[in-house]
Amino acid sequence: MNDDDIKQWFAGLQRELETAYLAAETAWQQSGFSGPIERWVACRRVIADCMKESGTFLDIGCANGYLLECVLGWAGERGVEIDPWGLDLSERLVGWAKERLGNHKEKLFVGNGLFWEPPRLFDYVRTELCYVPNECVHSYIERILNEYLTPGGKLLVAEYRSRGQSSSGPWVDDNLRELGFAVESCVGGFWQSQELTRVAMVCSSKIG
Ligand SMILES: C[S@@+](CC[C@H](N)C(=O)[O-])C[C@H]1O[C@@H](n2cnc3c(N)ncnc32)[C@H](O)[C@@H]1O
Repeated sequence: MNDDDIKQWFAGLQRELETAYLAAETAWQQSGFSGPIERWVACRRVIADCMKESGTFLDIGCANGYLLECVLGWAGERGVEIDPWGLDLSERLVGWAKERLGNHKEKLFVGNGLFWEPPRLFDYVRTELCYVPNECVHSYIERILNEYLTPGGKLLVAEYRSRGQSSSGPWVDDNLRELGFAVESCVGGFWQSQELTRVAMVCSSKIG
């Protein structure tokens, strides 16, 4: 893929997701999730469960900010204080995230995780492998580990599946191992006995 192909790949992704999310009605549908709120909770709460200590959290692909809002609440129930930051390709979705998270407006950015220069380091970063073309996945993950995370910070790589795809093929942790990354731990989000979310944790090996 040359630079033009990569540019077009991202333009296509943004067009497709933005069109669907902006037309949706509920907060979770505007974050790309279809199904009832109970399923959203079952499939997304596992992300907050990975956060055992208070710290900064960057959601790469924050859409309308609903996951950030939920994670603040879920972690807060356990006394874990999360400072929420977000990044998304879509200016309009980041606009909605700013409305949702008014007190944190200045921490929500329009940009591409593959190229963005973070203004600080984060204790937790969430993303997905499907946010970049296949040939960029290795450098994307390496870049987050080296340039986005505090020493010892945790990269939470999520994979979300529909009920029809639940048991199809290798999950994100297998893909990361195949690429040579050390997956420290892994959790699943289940709905009616089907695993629909998996979150693989990879730790930054930087020395503090
Ligand atoms: C499925 S939503 C995720 C919503 C929420 N964070 C969650 O985990 O449920 C995916 C979002 O990622 C954004 N996105 C995709 N690729 C991206 C990239 N390379 N950099 C920044 N945002 C990206 C899309 O614009 C979209 O809003």
